[in-house]
Amino acid sequence: MISYGKQTIDKEDLLAVTNSLQGDWLTQGPQTEIFEDNLKRYFGAKNCSVVSNGTAALHLSGLALGWKSGDIILTSPLSFVATANCVLYAGASVDFVDINMSTYQIDIESLESKLRTLKSHGKKVKALIAVDYAGNPCEWIKLRELADNYEFQLVNDNCHAMGAQYHHEKKYAVKYADIVTHSYHPVKNITTGEGGSVLTNSDSLHQKICDLRSHGITKDGSRLSHSEEPWYYEMQELGFNYRITDMQCALGSSQLKKLDSFIKKRNDIASYYDNCLLDSDLIQKPQIAKKSVCAYHLYPLLIDFKNLGIQKHDFFKNFYNKGINFQVHYIPIHLQPFYKKKFNYKSGDFPNSEEFYSKQISLPIYPSLKDSELQYVVEELNKFLSE
Ligand SMILES: Cc1ncc(COP(=O)(O)O)c(C=O)c1O
Repeated sequence: MISYGKQTIDKEDLLAVTNSLQGDWLTQGPQTEIFEDNLKRYFGAKNCSVVSNGTAALHLSGLALGWKSGDIILTSPLSFVATANCVLYAGASVDFVDINMSTYQIDIESLESKLRTLKSHGKKVKALIAVDYAGNPCEWIKLRELADNYEFQLVNDNCHAMGAQYHHEKKYAVKYADIVTHSYHPVKNITTGEGGSVLTNSDSLHQKICDLRSHGITKDGSRLSHSEEPWYYEMQELGFNYRITDMQCALGSSQLKKLDSFIKKRNDIASYYDNCLLDSDLIQKPQIAKKSVCAYHLYPLLIDFKNLGIQKHDFFKNFYNKGINFQVHYIPIHLQPFYKKKFNYKSGDFPNSEEFYSKQISLPIYPSLKDSELQYVVEELNKFLSE
């Protein structure tokens, strides 16, 4: 079965993990700091804390940014549920801004209009979580400008875009956002199995994240009420165990060395889809701005199933029987039963995200996808489109 995403693991990765397993530390050892240093260097961040997954990274970011009951946090309905859930973990309120139908990112005009309306009602937005959906960077210069004008915190849920470029910079994420989160889930651009990180140039946010990652405990002598005993530690706030193991960090450092070649391969596959899929009014291929290099975590293809006269689920079944397992990213968050029930969202609230969902499929894209598999997917899609 050819799936939409999969990890790419080589001998170097295996060696890194077995070496780590043979060392003295399975967790809280040297590999954690080494991975954090490697991430800091690659992404140009002053600080980095690796955590157990991307959801934990978002959870801790919200807590470190001080979100609380009554705060309004905006995000896109077109993301994985974790992007919105982290707002609720902090007790704050989440609201959505629809996507732009050519970039699939949060629509800047709708965002400005929402900010103006909220302001005119005396309401202040505490933060925006923008998602570099599919690996394609948002309009970060504009988002930063809005964040400064309306004085809100800017979070980049960068889980899809590790290795992307914005205005020729791989280090764009930390440059524009106050906090950046990663996920290293197996389908992501690099993997540690489960894993994630929080990157920030702010020392105070970093300190908070480090404390919360490990039960809210500190052993830092300068912050303890007394420090005579060598074993002494203090739990100063309510934290979690969101640590990641040393074996995973060893894998992460080994994967990070290959991120550039992974992104090149993902771009080669995307070019193949761009060039070899039949041009038709019934499909829309992703459009990437000249100033950006997309990391292509996903290749979202929009298919006008309605005008093709086929149900999306029949299309899926049909291709599944041919050995191709497409996916859909994402069911808009506001249409999830939990969100509908809790916040009264309904169909029609964010029409672009809903239209996108009705048309979108994620094509197979990952570095270990074989040429023969790629050609097969394109042949079968072209056959379907020309029938
Ligand atoms: C945009 C986005 N944010 C957050 C997450 C959560 O990451 P994790 O699965 O590592 O918890 C994901 C993972 O699918 C994601 O795609």
